[in-house]
Amino acid sequence: MKFDHVTGKCVDLSFEGKGVVKLSYGTVFVDGLFLGEEAEIEIQYKRAGSYFGKVFRLIKKSPDRIQPKCGVCTACGGCQLQQLAYKAQLDYKTKKVGDAFKRHKVENIEVLPCISAENPYEYRNKIQVPIGRDAHGHIVSGFYRSGTHKIIPIEKCWIEDPRAGKIISVLKDLMKLFHYAPYDEDTRTGLIRHVLIRTSYHYDEVMVTLVTNKDEFKGKNNFVKEWIKRCPNIKSLIQNINTRDTNVILGEKERTLYGPSVIKDSILGVDFLISSKSFFQVNPVQVEKLYKKAIDFADLSKEENILDAYCGIGTISLCASKYVKKVTGVEIVKEAIVDAKKNAKLNNISNAEFLLGDAGEVFERLTAQGEKYSTVFVDPPRKGLDQKFIDTLLRIAPEKIIYVSCDPETLARDVKLLSEKYDIKQMQPVDMFPMTFHVETIVGLYRK
Ligand SMILES: C[S@@+](CC[C@H](N)C(=O)[O-])C[C@H]1O[C@@H](n2cnc3c(N)ncnc32)[C@H](O)[C@@H]1O
Repeated sequence: MKFDHVTGKCVDLSFEGKGVVKLSYGTVFVDGLFLGEEAEIEIQYKRAGSYFGKVFRLIKKSPDRIQPKCGVCTACGGCQLQQLAYKAQLDYKTKKVGDAFKRHKVENIEVLPCISAENPYEYRNKIQVPIGRDAHGHIVSGFYRSGTHKIIPIEKCWIEDPRAGKIISVLKDLMKLFHYAPYDEDTRTGLIRHVLIRTSYHYDEVMVTLVTNKDEFKGKNNFVKEWIKRCPNIKSLIQNINTRDTNVILGEKERTLYGPSVIKDSILGVDFLISSKSFFQVNPVQVEKLYKKAIDFADLSKEENILDAYCGIGTISLCASKYVKKVTGVEIVKEAIVDAKKNAKLNNISNAEFLLGDAGEVFERLTAQGEKYSTVFVDPPRKGLDQKFIDTLLRIAPEKIIYVSCDPETLARDVKLLSEKYDIKQMQPVDMFPMTFHVETIVGLYRK
């Protein structure tokens, strides 16, 4: 197809934060074009009957357009909304949740305004960065250019915890000092592939996972010593070995090079040990608002037994435990259940149990054994609940379901099905991911 230039006006923002431009022959989704703006658009490709493009020349600017802090935000693609004023980002997210419910024909809903972040920058507690070389042979770190494997060098990413940037910068200095080459995907040579960093918000603790192309390498002990000396907040340093020719970042084999294999953070006064592979919400400030709202919506009492399906390392379970008689967490990843049990112990919480398995199957089995849950929290991955779990929820019909979701589309789909027996009492978007199109939503469902 011959790519073209067209002129058009943005009439909406899509699910992925792209400007929607309607033309006589179809819809164009445009990166970095905002509501009311007009632009000359360079069409880049066509997929599934729609066109995708970028702004070639802005003709009319939105009053909500701002100068982004990051110089490469348009090329990197990680922050789709960094050029949009924060208030407009929040309005977009509130509307996006409402639109998803309208599309799924869930009637008469009131979406509360999206809860904002006081500081919408420097929030991410987890990042993964490829290491490579630029055209001049200098060692660089950054993010892959959207849809490619070409690294855009980034010295400071404005949405990540600033402690991560310093650790990466020291790593690049040490690579020069120790003559460690970055991995080259074409020749499959070089040592350092990626670095993954997890920061604790409440403690000055950082976990670093260094992904290498070899198991052993020369000078490893001195390299580790020097890195820790220069970055004393590294509490845990892990080597992950990935020798495969693959896009998958992590390999199977891991060893701890320094410190314990976990770091500690806390949510609502409860401490959590986090290991390199466990799921932990990425915005440590907003997660407290999210869980507090979810617990408020559940209106819990000391007489209740509750279920936290999709419990991860037990975060919602343990934060809610003091308000209830007993909480049961269910999770499909074995390591997460091990962590959840450790976390209960760490906080001397004795009314929480954690079970391994598929949330729906375990719920079904427990209720068949006579267990009763007045409230069920669900916090599934993006794909939402499966039909079997929804059927079980509808059959057993606990009094309250508190649905926490990172995808308004699957949330709306599932709530539509649950609305057969449930009323929506509250619907609250929370901005867990400022500068991006993502939004987290909590829905309080009460049995009719
Ligand atoms: C969005 S995370 C939420 C974790 C936790 N509630 C939190 O806020 O940190 C979803 C979790 O569901 C788990 N999971 C995915 N499929 C599952 C299933 N079928 N049954 C139980 N857990 C599942 C994932 O491993 C992950 O830990």
